Amino acid sequence: MSFHVIEQAPARLNRSELAVPGSQPQLFEKAAQSDADVVFLDLEDAVAPDDKAQARKNIIKALNEMDWGKKTMSVRINGLDTHYMYRDVVDVVEQSGGRLDLIMIPKVGTAADVYAIDMLVTQIEDAMGYKKRIGFEHIIETALGMQNVTEIAGASKRNESLHFGVADYAASTRARTTNIGGVNPDYSVLTDPLEDGSRAVHWGDMWHYALARMVVAARANGLRPVDGPFGDFSDPDGYRAAAKRAAVLGCEGKWAIHPSQVGLANEVMSPSEAEVKRANRILEAMAEAAAAGKGAVSLDGRLIDYASIRQAEVLVQKAKQIAG
Ligand code: GLV
Ligand code: MG
Repeated sequence: MSFHVIEQAPARLNRSELAVPGSQPQLFEKAAQSDADVVFLDLEDAVAPDDKAQARKNIIKALNEMDWGKKTMSVRINGLDTHYMYRDVVDVVEQSGGRLDLIMIPKVGTAADVYAIDMLVTQIEDAMGYKKRIGFEHIIETALGMQNVTEIAGASKRNESLHFGVADYAASTRARTTNIGGVNPDYSVLTDPLEDGSRAVHWGDMWHYALARMVVAARANGLRPVDGPFGDFSDPDGYRAAAKRAAVLGCEGKWAIHPSQVGLANEVMSPSEAEVKRANRILEAMAEAAAAGKGAVSLDGRLIDYASIRQAEVLVQKAKQIAG
């Protein structure tokens, strides 16, 4: 390991993150009853400009008066380029700071954006005498944000997670997409003719680079990488496929823009029983190997070594966290 120690963000379950528009309080109860690990009440893109002030009031009331159980509660504020943002932070943190766990910052572009909100939140927390420190989740969803993702990830002690905002990212990079989080079939490779003259098509994942880059920046700074929205909520197979790709790359969770996606995210982002069983067998085999003075052994015909211990421990730890 490097001499540089990576401080880990507070351990929270973040398999599913349910988005709920702040302007639609009739949806809050269902969100509170859902199995979502994190709920974010939205003041940004799901709320029309004329509804922003009322949405703020709805959110403050709901945070203070509703029973959200053990859920992690977040509020997505408006971007730093709008005049709504300061009022979002001041009103929500002053009036419901006790129940608020995280602030979600959209379209973050530079480390200075994070600094500005950190300063504001710090002043409010100090003035209100809050004991709990509110964390930050950042949506990486612009070309500028992706360019500066490493600096953003390291910009505040409050940082907890990075989220890939595929919809705005597509708009910002002018990527050619179909629906939110979907993949364009034009992103494919047509091989040169094979021996029999036929040609094969390889489908590619147009989001791979962005997601992988964000995962690295998050993990190098002890943060949770989380995949963003999948817009077609009548396509569970498409959602599951996108979630699996994100999980394989190292993401801990995915957004749900509809309650029906919460279960899918929890399912994909939880280690399966078989995976946990195998991880425990690896740990047992490595403990036996260590007792016999060996560093690497074979299990089921495959090499395992100290790196396998670290991978197995991550899985076992996650299973324990889920079991609560
Ligand atoms: C989320 O905010 C997105 O733009 O995908
Ligand atoms: Mg967005």
